[in-house]
Amino acid sequence: MRALTWQGKRNVSVETVPDPILQEADDVIVEVTSTAICGSDLHLYEVLTPFMDRGDIIGHEPMGRVVEVGAESSLAVGDRVVVPFTISCGSCWMCSRGLTTQCETTQVREYGSGAALFGYSRLYGSVPGGQAEYLRVPYSSFNPIRVGTDLPDHRYLFLSDILPTAWQGVQYANAGPGDALAVYGLGPVGQFAARIGAFLGAEVYAIDPVPERRELAARYGARTFDLTDDVNDEIRDATQGRGPDAVIDAVGMEAHGSPVAKVAHQAVGLLPDPVGRKLMETSGVDRLAALHASIDLVRRGGTVSLSGVYGGQASPMPMLSLFDKQIQLRMGQCNVKTWIEDLLPLVEDPEDPLGTEDLVTHRLPLSEAPQAYEMFQQKSDGCIKVVLDPRS
Ligand SMILES: NC(=O)c1ccc[n+]([C@@H]2O[C@H](COP(=O)([O-])OP(=O)(O)OC[C@H]3O[C@@H](n4cnc5c(N)ncnc54)[C@H](O)[C@@H]3O)[C@@H](O)[C@H]2O)c1
Ligand SMILES: [Zn+2]
Ligand SMILES: [Zn+2]
Repeated sequence: MRALTWQGKRNVSVETVPDPILQEADDVIVEVTSTAICGSDLHLYEVLTPFMDRGDIIGHEPMGRVVEVGAESSLAVGDRVVVPFTISCGSCWMCSRGLTTQCETTQVREYGSGAALFGYSRLYGSVPGGQAEYLRVPYSSFNPIRVGTDLPDHRYLFLSDILPTAWQGVQYANAGPGDALAVYGLGPVGQFAARIGAFLGAEVYAIDPVPERRELAARYGARTFDLTDDVNDEIRDATQGRGPDAVIDAVGMEAHGSPVAKVAHQAVGLLPDPVGRKLMETSGVDRLAALHASIDLVRRGGTVSLSGVYGGQASPMPMLSLFDKQIQLRMGQCNVKTWIEDLLPLVEDPEDPLGTEDLVTHRLPLSEAPQAYEMFQQKSDGCIKVVLDPRS
């Protein structure tokens, strides 16, 4: 089959690789019909280079049709499924408490990581990912989300990751009717977080340096702000001087405006892999501009909710502000399956209240994935979300 493979820092290519095969009785093979590129893939593209191996198949936002089933799968050939990016057993202590990202069956203990993820480096199990024609899906009786056949792929596709991620971000932010919610970063995750916040009745303030991303968020009711030195003061002014009740950081570890850590990231990416890995595991730092700005912006006693991914073990944190302001801090990979019951009715609503069909700026053949990665990273050509089609 054809699949997108990681070849080196900022270097991916579409190659012919062996077809996946059933390995366990609860596996299925899915023929992928749509598969998105995520901001998390950009971390692999550059910063997490020491944990990648040449030839790794990446991608973790796929959906498609089941074409082969293991003897114990509850799925049938022909089922249409969305595949969550997290790989969880569904029955362990953690899974039974809704913490599927901490699944005790699939945890990657070698690296001290939580549940295995599709296409996400040694840290998360080096499991072949979904930017490919076919995908092997383990624990198929629990993980995949079975969906109907009437609506287009783009209605359902984002259940694989960014929609539940944004939903979890807003739930962790504890933002509801009448609350002021700020969202740092208006990539696909921030877009959905801002829309969900508004949908649930919050007043939304959204910050991003990219004009077309601000315009899109404004169409869904957010008050938008460029990333300037004064932006936190402007938002404080708009919230009785206190700051918002909650702030979601939907940027993560590659934030603009963190020059020192940027140099550190580049240096780690250039070191030989074992050295780079050790350095990341012990003294890695993140680009913390968005996180520190979120902590500064939130009101006293408020909540900072991190959807953006962080990976440094030695990132400096402003403990004085966190402690003195009495801030709640919540974070983590998304426990996808936990939120599907809330989200499925919304994505199937004829009104499409979260605008699932109004996010994708580029749908391209899988063969154009290398250019798509570059475009998404550079934010060129108005790119906000790319979906790849392995069959065209
Ligand atoms: N927790 C999870 O389970 C989960 C799931 C999916 C994605 N993520 C993470 O969410 C983050 C966003 O992902 P995305 O797909 O939206 O990607 P993205 O890279 O398109 O979005 C990041 C956005 O932040 C903006 N930005 C950069 N620096 C900023 C700053 N200092 N202040 C304000 N905005 C800034 C960029 O312009 C961009 O629009 C990534 O870190 C990704 O890894 C987490
Ligand atoms: Zn993702
Ligand atoms: Zn489990």
